[in-house]
Amino acid sequence: MSEQKLALMGGKPVSESLVCPQWPPVEEATSQKLVDIYWSRQWSFNGLYERNFAYNFATFHDVKYGVFMTNGTVTLQCALAAYGIGKGDEVIVPALTWLATAMAVSYLGAIPVFVDIEPTTLCLDPKKVKLAITDKTRAIIPVHLYGSMADLDAILDIAQHHNLVVIEDCAHTHGGRWRDRRVGSWGDVGSFSFQQSKVMASGEGGICITNNAETAERLFRLKHIGYASYMSKGQTISGSTSELTCYNFRATEFQAAILENQLLGLEQRLATYNQNAARLKSHLADVPGVRMQVQGKAANPQSYYALVLIFDEEPLVRVPLKILLKAIAAEGLHINPTYGAVYQHILFNLPKTKYRVAETLCPVAEELATKHCATIAHQWLGADEQTINIISDILIKVIVNAEALVYKYA
Ligand SMILES: Cc1ncc(COP(=O)(O)O)c(C=O)c1O
Repeated sequence: MSEQKLALMGGKPVSESLVCPQWPPVEEATSQKLVDIYWSRQWSFNGLYERNFAYNFATFHDVKYGVFMTNGTVTLQCALAAYGIGKGDEVIVPALTWLATAMAVSYLGAIPVFVDIEPTTLCLDPKKVKLAITDKTRAIIPVHLYGSMADLDAILDIAQHHNLVVIEDCAHTHGGRWRDRRVGSWGDVGSFSFQQSKVMASGEGGICITNNAETAERLFRLKHIGYASYMSKGQTISGSTSELTCYNFRATEFQAAILENQLLGLEQRLATYNQNAARLKSHLADVPGVRMQVQGKAANPQSYYALVLIFDEEPLVRVPLKILLKAIAAEGLHINPTYGAVYQHILFNLPKTKYRVAETLCPVAEELATKHCATIAHQWLGADEQTINIISDILIKVIVNAEALVYKYA
């Protein structure tokens, strides 16, 4: 593409009508189920839709048990609690993630220890994980972030060597495979979110999956105020949960029904996302100045919560990210920065005594991820070929004409 005046500087935008596919998806069949549930008056308490969905989601992952909950934060909290993790214990989390990953640790009185990410995948760096382990470390939470997968081979190896629990945070990774198995099935527990923006979305919601029967029962009791899945309402048995602090983290039948058909369509959705991600990657492959988040080395296929662009090469590295995003928006495409390092996020308010940044520090999360990365939300990857071509044109126009931004804003 030749030099052109950027829209931010008064030029003609590439598109004035680019429309992001609507999210979450809606359909008549689900709408009818919701009406039926409403009239049935069976809205909660381990109902038929919940039991079916938990079973189907676990089976989809080739895992034995699924425990459905209110969101993907309490799933992490319960997963840690199921292994007795609490006050004074340390849990390793990546420095780049949504802050829920760390808060779930903190809610139990444990200490989140932030470890840096790889500059390629933007996921937890196993070499730095090793260096952060102390005699208080009890667990690692690898997050499969945006559109990549943490190096499960290396992390599971380290965990086994140090006898640590692994909770996979799959809030961004529905349906992706690591080698021949789906993510979420590799760690002791896989934790998923179904919050409104996620690739499977029920407004709010979450699930834990595990192959361990004892863990599954503890997870169920933790979220169902002490009841086991085989107990009926009103039935109590004394003493059985005395060592667990149980909660009401129950989700409803409505959420389970919304997710039922989304699960059936997930593989098709991922195929479309992968095809469009490959298209965008190939369009941008020879454009100097931008690279993409690298997918997990054994991803097969990848699952996308977002496609991450990394602007860490000349001349774009010199353009403030805010300006770059404005320039892209002016051409017709609205994309966002990443979360940035958790402990620098405006909503993160733990006192310094309640978390630790690993001694190796987190320059990749603080510099690269915060200042040079942008995320294209997954729903764009569900768009038609023409829209994907326009997205490429916008990015290429801004990148090719970046010198003008450097001149004015750097
Ligand atoms: C990586 C990650 N972990 C955990 C969560 C928490 O999920 P929820 O919002 O369902 O509590 C999120 C949500 O955005 C997330 O992005």
